[in-house]
Amino acid sequence: MKYKIAIIGFGTVGQGFAEILDEKGNWFKEKYGLDFNVVAISDPIKGSVYAEQGLDLTKILSLTKETGKIDSYSEGIKGLDSIHTITDTNANVIIESSPTNIETGDPGITHIKTALNNKKHVITTNKGPVALAYRELAKLADENGVFFKFEGTVISGTPALNLGLETLAGTKIQEIKGILNGTTNYILTEMERGKTYDEVLKEAQRLGYAEAKPDADVEGWDALAKVLILGNVIMESNLKVKDVDRTGITGITLQDIQQAKSENKRYKLIGKVRKENGEIKASVSPEKLDIEDSLAQVNGVLNALTFVTDELQEVTIVGPGAGRRETGFSLLTDLLNIHRLIEKS
Ligand code: HSE
Repeated sequence: MKYKIAIIGFGTVGQGFAEILDEKGNWFKEKYGLDFNVVAISDPIKGSVYAEQGLDLTKILSLTKETGKIDSYSEGIKGLDSIHTITDTNANVIIESSPTNIETGDPGITHIKTALNNKKHVITTNKGPVALAYRELAKLADENGVFFKFEGTVISGTPALNLGLETLAGTKIQEIKGILNGTTNYILTEMERGKTYDEVLKEAQRLGYAEAKPDADVEGWDALAKVLILGNVIMESNLKVKDVDRTGITGITLQDIQQAKSENKRYKLIGKVRKENGEIKASVSPEKLDIEDSLAQVNGVLNALTFVTDELQEVTIVGPGAGRRETGFSLLTDLLNIHRLIEKS
């Protein structure tokens, strides 16, 4: 099968994915037999271009860098909006990398439903749709005989969902907990080193870690979305936003951080979902951890996730949880997985 890819949302993540395809595409073809073209890109700010035979990603990426726009690309059809890019092009894989909206899930949910109803595979890094409508979307994908994949919604390209769903299948997972947001971990780490909150937040935005709205990170909404996804996808719960106890890091002062340091402790924003007397409980809140705690050692933009299991006790992974290439890579992980599944069938 030739994968004809449309990218909906060409921000940091969409561009990171395009860069990886552009740089390593030949190798993916040789090593995995992955035959693909990016046929369309649509973004509300950068514009939209569709070329049935495929776009030259090197050109598109340099246009984006130089002009911030893609619609001066020399060929193809311009101006298709996201929905028409999904429905009226020859794309058979839709990459949904528009920004997360944890209140409504849109426009992501609409993009994803449209793609699935049109029997197109969907790969997304958009947390809103998975956090709010996972079951409905997974069912729709099944009914339409296509794949719906979203590894990058939880700690970017570092394996989290596939690890829990596939590698840890057969062990009972009692709890999943960890540092699920890179921006806040970076802020807490740098504040401990003496920088101010505003200074570090700006730096996180410049590096492409932060969400479009700073509140999403610092008030714990981004971590909450990931907790919902972990709970609903891996622990088969049916949690809603209101079921997660959420506190962000805005109440933590430089003084609190210095005080914790003097006690050999460190604040971390911890997201948790756990089974308790047959019920699933979920929370996001700052915790003052002993400096020796493995999660206390995870600093900067790094994320970490611990699965508490019956067979293996604790399994912890540490890795990037945000970033252009890191999140772009998660889309590739899913594309390769779809490719393997299709090849096997
Ligand atoms: N803003 C998020 C973070 C990006 O800082 O971790 C990944 O969801």
